[in-house]
Amino acid sequence: MENVRAKRNRTIELDPAEKDTLRAGVASPADLSRGARDLIVCCDCHHGIDAIPAQSIDLVVADPPYNLRRTFGTRTFVEQDEAQYANWLDGWISKLPRVMSAQASIYVCCDWRCSSAVERVLSRYFIIQNRITWEREKGRAALRNWKSASEDIWFASLGTQYVYNADAVKLMRRVIAPYTDKGGQAKDWEQNEFGRFRATAASNLWTDLTVPFWSMPENTPHPTQKPEKLLAKIVLASSNPGQLVLDPFVGSGTSAVVAKKLGRHFIGIELEEEYCLLAQKRVQNASPGQPIQGLHAGTFWERNSAPPKLQNM
Ligand SMILES: C[S@@+](CC[C@H](N)C(=O)[O-])C[C@H]1O[C@@H](n2cnc3c(N)ncnc32)[C@H](O)[C@@H]1O
Repeated sequence: MENVRAKRNRTIELDPAEKDTLRAGVASPADLSRGARDLIVCCDCHHGIDAIPAQSIDLVVADPPYNLRRTFGTRTFVEQDEAQYANWLDGWISKLPRVMSAQASIYVCCDWRCSSAVERVLSRYFIIQNRITWEREKGRAALRNWKSASEDIWFASLGTQYVYNADAVKLMRRVIAPYTDKGGQAKDWEQNEFGRFRATAASNLWTDLTVPFWSMPENTPHPTQKPEKLLAKIVLASSNPGQLVLDPFVGSGTSAVVAKKLGRHFIGIELEEEYCLLAQKRVQNASPGQPIQGLHAGTFWERNSAPPKLQNM
């Protein structure tokens, strides 16, 4: 029986008829050597990074395979012992300082198992600035262990001076104790038609993210797709408009789409052709200024506190 797609299913899929056109838009390492940007490049990132001109990248966002058995398209990443996995990390992380500009930063995603290896290898080449933990509600339940419902993202910089736009990633939170000054004026909070809110500094604990699922317009068949909102926080905080963002494991293209929507340039490298085509399709359909789910008029809102009419956007 033919699979009928549910009406509310908004998953982005590849139509066989569009594959040749998309394939023609996907780039190769030779394009990188020429200094071209705004590309999805189909190759192993070890070769891809080597082809990038020196000091041209302002932000690296890397979401590599974690140290567990996982199939990505036609290839399966196999779990290794920690030393082997650290070696594998070192193979591409060591190539990055050459291509990064003086004030560039790097973010590397991981789970709790490979977090220590990522920190160790990153600290050989970069100054570790922080570890972000984000709540990943879609975690798998376990019979004899705590359900894993969080992941880490290590944040490091090449030098002591680095781009960090704190105001661009403030989080709007509902005010529980609306203190006023002696004159009765609100202390660092504001009242709008939806309630009382305070714009708070973004912390290293992110609990306002939703992993893409079938009725979200950003969803794709990629097995480990990250939310656009997660990438938006990173791109807004650690790059300026017009700067160049590199993702050596771009998968379905999330970081490239977000960079384009936020007026940054991008290079996304991916080994699997099918994912390259998916990423190419997503970036072609994205344009600067397009909405990012969870970012409303340039503001992030704490989970369940966004004004009602914005919550389902
Ligand atoms: C965790 S996924 C990234 C998902 C991505 N953040 C997204 O939102 O779709 C890792 C990706 O790296 C790709 N990959 C694995 N080894 C690679 C390599 N050596 N060079 C480039 N890409 C690679 C995999 O095919 C997979 O799509």
